[in-house]
Amino acid sequence: MYMPRTNFRRSKFWPRRWRLRFLFGCAVAVGCAAATVALRAQDKNPFAGNAKDAKLGESQFRANCAFCHGLGARGGGRGPDLSRAQKRHGNSDADLFRTINEGVPGTAMPHNGATQQGVGMTEEEIWQVISYIRSVQVKAPAQPAGNAAHGKELFNGSAACSTCHMIQGKGGRLGPDLSTTASARSTDYLVESVRSPSRRLAQGISEAMKEFSQEYETVTVVTADGTKFTGVVLNEDHFTLQMMDTREQLHLFEKDKLRSLEKSRESLMPAHDQKTLSDKDLEDVIAYLLAVGAQ
Ligand code: HEC
Ligand code: HEC
Repeated sequence: MYMPRTNFRRSKFWPRRWRLRFLFGCAVAVGCAAATVALRAQDKNPFAGNAKDAKLGESQFRANCAFCHGLGARGGGRGPDLSRAQKRHGNSDADLFRTINEGVPGTAMPHNGATQQGVGMTEEEIWQVISYIRSVQVKAPAQPAGNAAHGKELFNGSAACSTCHMIQGKGGRLGPDLSTTASARSTDYLVESVRSPSRRLAQGISEAMKEFSQEYETVTVVTADGTKFTGVVLNEDHFTLQMMDTREQLHLFEKDKLRSLEKSRESLMPAHDQKTLSDKDLEDVIAYLLAVGAQ
């Protein structure tokens, strides 16, 4: 009679439960070993402190990153200032490597090799870029500029930012949620946003997901029955317009049913000059925004 030998042996010497445990154990061991190797390779920058590599990193940075992070990595309208000593997603070499290689999902920060930006840097090139970032990184100031506690009071009180902006779920909705804005933008950009809001309008809600994003343009429509609404554009295509009016009501219009539709690049956010918000107070508000973003 044919006896399935393996089966017999297995059931005799390797009871099923043991076998599974053994296999599981092996898988874990192999998995851990692989993970350790991968992490080892990414722990330390082989080019740390090397000026020549930092220089090579700089040209990579110009080509792939400056578009969002600004020249000199000082930040721009679409990406944070990377010369800040305190990084939101971790300060170590390994953290930087991971952020640059994997991107920050749900934000505009692309992963290495993302098709649109066509980055696809090698491991060496990523380390060179990190050398470059370290070379422009400023020492952490002993005391961060501005008084965040006072900034919070202003934001919710006399400066009335919270009437239009939400932070961590509280506040108005006409302007963008500012919970993570500061940590994703340069300080210069924030100052300009408050002093001259119309110069560069904020990117719309779905910015991260879109290649060409909608801006917070101001729109005024007059409906067929003569009602007028002013607000910000939330979304738009050839036939429809989605907007939020200044009373935070959402509207979806079919364009060909409107009596008129006018858009302007004049922000609905009032420009705050020195009289409405002194430099010192603005610094405090920004300190508050940064403190919130760092959480
Ligand atoms: C399309 C815009 C864009 C491009 C291109 C881009 N970034 Fe970013 N990057 C961002 C944004 C936005 C963030 C902030 C994400 C968030 O909200 O935390 C960010 C975050 C980062 C951070 C984390 C900062 C922190 O505080 O932790 C690093 C480091 C970084 N980027 C490096 C790079 C490098 C290096 C390149 C080029 C290889 C690059 N980025 C290309 C938009 C971009
Ligand atoms: C009347 C409503 C209103 C008030 C009050 C207001 N904002 Fe705004 N804010 C907006 C709108 C609308 C936008 C989007 C258009 C633009 O970029 O100017 C905006 C944009 C911004 C941006 C740019 C965000 C980005 O992602 O680019 C910042 C920063 C900002 N506001 C900060 C403030 C601060 C700080 C205050 C208080 C001193 C304030 N705002 C008061 C309506 C307002």
